[in-house]
Amino acid sequence: MRVGILGSGLMGGKLGTLFARAGHDVMFSYARSEQKLKRLAREAQGKARAGTPAEAARDADALVLAVHWSRVDDVLKQAGDVSGKVIVSCSLPMNADDTDLVIAHTSSGAEELARKIQRAHVVSAFGTVPSEVLFDVFESKRKAKRPSLVYCGDHQDAKTVAATLIRDVGFDPVDAGPLRIARYMEPFTLLIAQLAYEGKGGPELAYRFERFGK
Ligand SMILES: NC(=O)c1ccc[n+]([C@@H]2O[C@H](COP(=O)([O-])OP(=O)(O)OC[C@H]3O[C@@H](n4cnc5c(N)ncnc54)[C@H](OP(=O)(O)O)[C@@H]3O)[C@@H](O)[C@H]2O)c1
Repeated sequence: MRVGILGSGLMGGKLGTLFARAGHDVMFSYARSEQKLKRLAREAQGKARAGTPAEAARDADALVLAVHWSRVDDVLKQAGDVSGKVIVSCSLPMNADDTDLVIAHTSSGAEELARKIQRAHVVSAFGTVPSEVLFDVFESKRKAKRPSLVYCGDHQDAKTVAATLIRDVGFDPVDAGPLRIARYMEPFTLLIAQLAYEGKGGPELAYRFERFGK
């Protein structure tokens, strides 16, 4: 797949690198320095390039939105027309100092995003794990028991694309249902962040659901 990265920071930089290593064609975009985007592309060890958000969006089969909530409008404006595109968003609707959600309970960041780009197909994914764990998960891909990763969205084909990317990073994709389930996923992420950054054992944390019975 051709994957455009909108926001090449902790999440976008690592996810793009891993997608390239998994064989996808990646374009990194949206950082404060072009040098950084070029470095990410060079070090990805796969098919990866640096570009503008508009270039990343143009031929993308999937676009990964990985910017702070306050930058969403700006990066979307720079990306241009995203009609019909699959947008995999890990962006959480956090306030400026990242201490709380600014949208919750009756809506979610993912739903607000879908309202902004009504002709795109938004899937919420990857936001429930800390960036610090992504490389470890990728490196443990061959283990029998993979960590889970929840995702949700309203468009089945877009969800299939997201599930492929989730699997390629090394997680077991767990379809949590329609996009409104992001109302539960986004607060869950704050729990994961609490355990990762305030708990014992460090931020290299993932989770796994287990089913019992039949
Ligand atoms: N970090 C995590 O572990 C984590 C986990 C789950 C969800 N999330 C969510 O994922 C999203 C991305 O988080 P992140 O930690 O990856 O953020 P980040 O490291 O700050 O990355 C954001 C990217 O946006 C770029 N950017 C910011 N302002 C810009 C501007 N004015 N012009 C151009 N580029 C600009 C940054 O550029 P520079 O590279 O130059 O800084 C960076 O590449 C957030 O919504 C966050 O809540 C993060």
